[in-house]
Amino acid sequence: MIPQSFIQELLGRVDIVDVVDRHVKLKRSGANYMACCPFHTEKTPSFTVSPTKQFYHCFGCGAHGTAVGFLMEYGGMGFVDAVKDLAQSVGLKVPDTRPEAAQRQEKQGDDLYAVMLRAAQYYRTQLKSAPAAVAYLKARGLSGEIAKRFGIGYAPDGWQNLASVYSDYEGKAPAAAGLVKQSEDGRRYDVFRNRIVFPIVDVRGNVIGFGGRVLGEGEPKYLNSPETPVFEKGRELYGLYQARRAIRDAGRVVVVEGYMDVVALAQSGVEYAVATLGTATTPQHVQKLLRQSDEVVFCFDGDEAGRRAAWRALEVSLAQLQDGKQVRFLFLPQGEDPDTYVRRHGKDGFEALLAGNAVALSRFLLEELSQRGDLATAEGRAKCVHEAKPLLKSVRATVLRVQLVRELAERCRMSPEEVGQVCELAPAAAKLRAPEARYPRAEPASLAHKLLGLLVSNPALADRVSTEQRSWLDAPEFTPVAELLDVLRESGASSPATLFEATRDSRYVKLYEDAAAESLAGAMEEEVALADLAGALSKLELERVRSEYERLTAGGARNDAERKRAQELLRRLAELKGASGAGAQTRM
Ligand code: GTP
Ligand code: MN
Repeated sequence: MIPQSFIQELLGRVDIVDVVDRHVKLKRSGANYMACCPFHTEKTPSFTVSPTKQFYHCFGCGAHGTAVGFLMEYGGMGFVDAVKDLAQSVGLKVPDTRPEAAQRQEKQGDDLYAVMLRAAQYYRTQLKSAPAAVAYLKARGLSGEIAKRFGIGYAPDGWQNLASVYSDYEGKAPAAAGLVKQSEDGRRYDVFRNRIVFPIVDVRGNVIGFGGRVLGEGEPKYLNSPETPVFEKGRELYGLYQARRAIRDAGRVVVVEGYMDVVALAQSGVEYAVATLGTATTPQHVQKLLRQSDEVVFCFDGDEAGRRAAWRALEVSLAQLQDGKQVRFLFLPQGEDPDTYVRRHGKDGFEALLAGNAVALSRFLLEELSQRGDLATAEGRAKCVHEAKPLLKSVRATVLRVQLVRELAERCRMSPEEVGQVCELAPAAAKLRAPEARYPRAEPASLAHKLLGLLVSNPALADRVSTEQRSWLDAPEFTPVAELLDVLRESGASSPATLFEATRDSRYVKLYEDAAAESLAGAMEEEVALADLAGALSKLELERVRSEYERLTAGGARNDAERKRAQELLRRLAELKGASGAGAQTRM
């Protein structure tokens, strides 16, 4: 856990304008900065960065967030990585509250990045003086430019070349990085020898591992770095770092199986491809991919092994999919892989195949299931539904699940309700619950909405709300306001940016972001905001006093205490009406 106080300090130091400008060139426009939105395709800029609010918002596609959010969305980083990245950029160190053992591991991790980087640089240099390796890459159709883009290098033949790179060749670091091994007689030797090496880079641009291919024939064809504290195969995707921009531009990411596939596709102009690292697709992979893009296309060989791997990817995706996101599967013609296909048919040919032959996840799912049971027989249909059960149960996207149930029901000659029952699915409505709950927007200028807007754009106002006033926010429509107030007071967040990081886990975060986006349009002076807050609070009190008064007098005040209370309320009511003007009077 990174302490909230650190996030607050960090956000106080970074300037979102600098952070964004490093990736997307910004132009000043009045109080804000503008650019063409990096999250959708547009010709005229609607992407706005506010230096005062430390917040970005696109009026075209609605993307918005803080500097941390920007790095997560644009850079595909997780929260912790984004915070580390920002901290590094302003010279802060993220405090470590973890046990010492974990801290040591982290420290070792920092060192490993440096070790890996040196190896990558060495291999790259070696490629220049290795004609056979260069010839191999050329024969596979790769240009020097593409080799450079992917940092492709060459590990020369020989057992201890890396001894010239590391003065502590015999020490811990090269072994911990997985670059050397120990033979039985205790001698060290390089893992990668006489191989083309493909550096594996994480989303922050660090080299974390290598894949090494023999030149031509040989066993094993590929050798991969072992897992190390910085390299976990199930989390990483080869080529993602290089592909990020293209993925955003294309609005999709293609997942292939091999290093060479990624590189060959890029060579042909299909730059939005990434590869798993010789492992099955994991939930972390899918999460990472869906964070980058609304559409993921898994591309597999058309053979039996390819279909099995695709099924695994499907199982994992079902649980990760959200409505509005799409996963498709593309099976290549027999005997082809993306590398051979794109070299033969070019970018256009590959994209035509994508457009024409990639099947939606729902279709792949239903077709595979149909093949498992003979739908012409009752037994076959029962088997099909039975096999669908765990899959359907894992789907969290409500609309997708409804669709799948409906189609499965049709194929198996049941009603959707029956399928739901047999598969023990909770009714769809129950799934549309709290976390996505939106607060009622029917009356746009409602008090709750007004209060939310004020607090989100001026978090410091939270201190101006008394404990008594806070207690007025007990009606359900005020819950998001009440929770926001509590978080603000607890975290001491004083700017919109710090507020967002403090409310990142709130079920109302979307609501807060929307309110902030709205407030971007009309910047407000502090005194005006304060006056508005006072006005909104007295309206709130007025409503409460009035309803209590009405409740008391409706049945006729029954005793002295009640009569006394009624008089107090009446007095307060008169004061409040005087303060809040004619509008309230006419409504009384
Ligand atoms: P090329 O023959 O260079 O075109 O390779 P490819 O990308 O077509 O390789 P293939 O489809 O055979 O394998 C896909 C991926 O599986 C590779 O990129 C590797 O990550 C992994 N892989 C393939 N062969 C081996 C191997 O012998 N050992 C290991 N550990 N991984 C392999
Ligand atoms: Mn291949």
